Amino acid sequence: MSTTPGPAPAPDLFTWEFASDPYPAYAWLREHAPVHRTTLPSGVEAWLVTRYADARQALADQRLSKNPVHHVEPGKTGIPGERSAGLMTHLLNIDPPDHTRLRRLVSKAFTPRRVAEFTPRVQELTDRLIDSFVERGSADLIHEFAFPLPIYAICDLLGVPAEDQDDFRDWAGMMIRHGGGPRGGVARSVKKMRGYLAELIHRKREGLRQEGADDLISGLIKASDHGEHLTENEAAAMAFILLFAGFETTVNLIGNGVYQLLRHPEERARLQASLAAGETGLLETGVEELLRYDGPVEMATWRYATRALTIGGQEIPAGDPVLVVLAAADRDPERFEGPDTLDLARRDNQHLGYGHGIHYCLGAPLARLEGQTALATLLTRLPDLRLAADPAELRWRGGLIMRGLRTLPVEFSPS
Ligand code: HEM
Repeated sequence: MSTTPGPAPAPDLFTWEFASDPYPAYAWLREHAPVHRTTLPSGVEAWLVTRYADARQALADQRLSKNPVHHVEPGKTGIPGERSAGLMTHLLNIDPPDHTRLRRLVSKAFTPRRVAEFTPRVQELTDRLIDSFVERGSADLIHEFAFPLPIYAICDLLGVPAEDQDDFRDWAGMMIRHGGGPRGGVARSVKKMRGYLAELIHRKREGLRQEGADDLISGLIKASDHGEHLTENEAAAMAFILLFAGFETTVNLIGNGVYQLLRHPEERARLQASLAAGETGLLETGVEELLRYDGPVEMATWRYATRALTIGGQEIPAGDPVLVVLAAADRDPERFEGPDTLDLARRDNQHLGYGHGIHYCLGAPLARLEGQTALATLLTRLPDLRLAADPAELRWRGGLIMRGLRTLPVEFSPS
């Protein structure tokens, strides 16, 4: 009896091989099962949306809610500890009209101008971190560079006093190291952070009565829209989500970005030459391309169907979670020419790395500033930077939600 060869079986999405290179599996899904139901390692059943056109549409579809109350099997998603710490009312968990009100208020404080004024401080932090290992000739760029830079930057921007920033570093370290692991430790760190932020906000509110202050937390307290203000709880949840959303993402932007530059010597040489000539154009398009090619957010884009709907021809029942797989959409050959090629000068690069629609990344200007400063300074100060490990040996943090390396050992000529 002859058998007709069918398509190859669906790839296993949760193996170690998949974590180190998910792109072949995503190509398979885009072609054979573009909207694919799977069981996540947490046990939650969810739909994965992998084609660019479907992904973009789903991100802007208001029938898909960000609020976990719409999940028919609640309890397992979200940031560990946020529920018990009373941090649920933040931008990434709510829909209009609440989302519209909170986003308008935070946008008054977290402005592109505030970020632009922060440029010299990000440069100073970047240089200080490089100073700490430049004489050694080797470093782990995740622990010594990509990890501390965003946490110190956001602490500074928020107005967390310098003497408390190392506590933040420890709490954030617990979250990033154990995000997919022992939830108890993460939950404790979230609670500590929340307690600290609530107290800081309270102190700043009192302080503001006596003197002006120009940090972001003071800005959040002062922001008003048609006479409305954020409550202290809302301000605490907002500060928390700025930290949470802006931390691991930026670690991965820097980590994945440096890693891919080291694996693409021609593109890296092109960028180094352009930086040496004092140009910034290739740096700007290059960071966008790195976000498209190997972005930090693999599928941390939870949504829940508030009613039955169809995505890419697939019926999704009400109450089901939907994850838009940005990493798959951004390699879709229907949208990007030569999607598996890293081209730092790529034009027409409307990638989904920062999302799309009303939840489009609020911190994109800060992320761009940190990413561009980090990469340009590393390549300029450590011109012969090279990988000190076999790429096949490098470990990626599993979990699918975010994509990032655990370590990035490098060598360079000490100076
Ligand atoms: C939202 C990516 C850095 C704050 C998002 C979303 C994505 C994203 C994909 C949309 C999620 C969704 O639709 O479900 C990134 C990437 C970053 C980055 C790739 C770094 C390279 C930052 C930074 C901050 C930040 C530095 C703040 C300091 C936020 C906030 C939201 C958000 C508050 C929620 C916006 C809303 O719901 O209205 N980000 N992000 N992000 N991001 Fe970022």
